[in-house]
Amino acid sequence: MLDLSGRAGYPLRIDEETCGIALGSEMRSPGYSTRDLQALSKVLEDPDADGPEIIYWMYRHTGRKIDAGLYEAHALRYDLSSFRSVMLGREYMKTSGHYHPNIAGTAVAYPEIYEVLYGEALYVMQKMVDYGASPEDAEVEDVIVARVRAGQKIIMPPGYGHVTINTLDTPMLMSNWVSGAFNSFYGSVEECRGFAWYLVEEDGEPQWIANPNYKRGVPEIRFAEVREVPELGVTWDTPMYSACVQAPEKFEFVNDPAKYEAQIWANLEIQ
Ligand SMILES: [Fe+2]
Repeated sequence: MLDLSGRAGYPLRIDEETCGIALGSEMRSPGYSTRDLQALSKVLEDPDADGPEIIYWMYRHTGRKIDAGLYEAHALRYDLSSFRSVMLGREYMKTSGHYHPNIAGTAVAYPEIYEVLYGEALYVMQKMVDYGASPEDAEVEDVIVARVRAGQKIIMPPGYGHVTINTLDTPMLMSNWVSGAFNSFYGSVEECRGFAWYLVEEDGEPQWIANPNYKRGVPEIRFAEVREVPELGVTWDTPMYSACVQAPEKFEFVNDPAKYEAQIWANLEIQ
């Protein structure tokens, strides 16, 4: 087991072979769920792709027991997700992809902040004109892709659905702070068989290919690099967990993004 406590800000270890995690006894034991291949196959380029039964694990509502009052007071939830390294057909392992609803009484959706704790992740962020539109009517407004390395953080801007991809031959572990006030939704992701772009391996190289199920076509990908935004607790040298416990007000953007639009976008430098 590899000790990630320094990077995470609390006692955490990962089994680099199995993707299993171990949390210290001062941690809340999270509720966990898994995404299995059968469920994921609905959004894969190749629905018949072979693979292990479980593709990734989601651990919800964790964090140190002693900090539980802080999550309540600020309507925040801390989760972990661990990913296998696996090819599904010629496509790299990825999450199903989901959207967040608008905050009640506003036209702004909840954002989310992720931190890579081990490995490296590609985040695909996708904005739709209508999240529930059929493949015939689905209009993709924007697609942004960013690579995030261990220790870095990335904010999913309001209105952007997201998929996470692991392209490395090691597992990937990430954490997130998100509002505890909503549930994600999938819209027509399954009907469209995933997001607008698939990442596949061709001749040993990763290659983006457009998802042909978006019948109106898809926009070109805008590639981005992540940047530190200290005002939002986004720095590379401090664990995201510790940043929030030390200064929870910096994470107010998770529940009130409209106030912090400029800072949220400062995290992404479009290339
Ligand atoms: Fe999310």
